[in-house]
Amino acid sequence: MLADAYDFLLKLLLVGDSGTGKSCLLHHFLENQFKKDSVNTIGMEFGTRIVHIADKSIKLQIWDTAGQERFRSLTRSYFRGAAGALVVYDICNRETFLGVHSWLSDVRSLANPELVVILVGNKSDLADEREVSYLEASRFAQEHEMMFLEASALTGDAVEEMFFKCARSILSKIE
Ligand code: GTP
Ligand code: MG
Repeated sequence: MLADAYDFLLKLLLVGDSGTGKSCLLHHFLENQFKKDSVNTIGMEFGTRIVHIADKSIKLQIWDTAGQERFRSLTRSYFRGAAGALVVYDICNRETFLGVHSWLSDVRSLANPELVVILVGNKSDLADEREVSYLEASRFAQEHEMMFLEASALTGDAVEEMFFKCARSILSKIE
């Protein structure tokens, strides 16, 4: 088999307010380590990784968008065709949790109303500085038909899981 052969190609979006750790999550998923000195993403960056789920090779094409307001209309224009979205907030910054609403409506209206959405509370390593409880976020996710987990791009906790959960859920819908 060719090194790059795969059965499915899935486009996933990483969205959420600036500073929530989207680029660090992606970096950990691709490189298996914490990205030190991460800088604000300009526009958009990409990453791909092939994963194996139920005897299938799935190429995940992950679009890491800029959370800064000035890039909002640019990044929105790339949402079309996404099969899934990971909406990230920072558990230590309530404002970024309040921002989830508008990211959610953006991805549902511009990508696909049926897309799989996972709410990700990042920086779970900083639980002492928490401003959003696990319970509140999981209730919010349930009300808005998203899956939910907390992760840490610093320790790597639940980073694999968030992408695999998303991919598995998409596959279960299309197979
Ligand atoms: P934009 O590209 O501007 O949208 O931001 P972003 O969401 O990509 O944030 P980025 O990944 O660049 O991380 C922002 C800051 O949070 C950096 O200083 C990271 O070191 C820090 N950070 C990211 N993830 C974690 C984490 O899981 N734990 C801790 N403690 N810090 C983190
Ligand atoms: Mg970034």
